[in-house]
Amino acid sequence: MHIKNHPILGERLHDPVTIYFNGKPLQAYKQQTIAAALIANGVKKFGESRKLMQARGLFCSRGRCCSCYMTVNGEDHVKTCMKMVEDEMVVIPNIGDPDVRGDSHGN
Ligand code: FES
Repeated sequence: MHIKNHPILGERLHDPVTIYFNGKPLQAYKQQTIAAALIANGVKKFGESRKLMQARGLFCSRGRCCSCYMTVNGEDHVKTCMKMVEDEMVVIPNIGDPDVRGDSHGN
């Protein structure tokens, strides 16, 4: 649920865009971070922890904990609580280790 008209902050959400989470289109607004847009669309699981494979999601919401890492437009390890949405953005949950040293990254 998007809070479009906050009693104190006023009307802050305009400029609707579409982002894709796991291939599914979601409505978001340019004034939101990716994490805020996902939470507003009911997505709480952003990935899984490497060792225990437990769900990870929004924790600090201020760029400190790295719990919200996701792959955005092909770039791994994006802190989604700090990155604003853009139209047609492709967001993939952080499941398992990305291939950070493989050929796909030029090494
Ligand atoms: S939720 Fe902590 S860095 Fe994003």
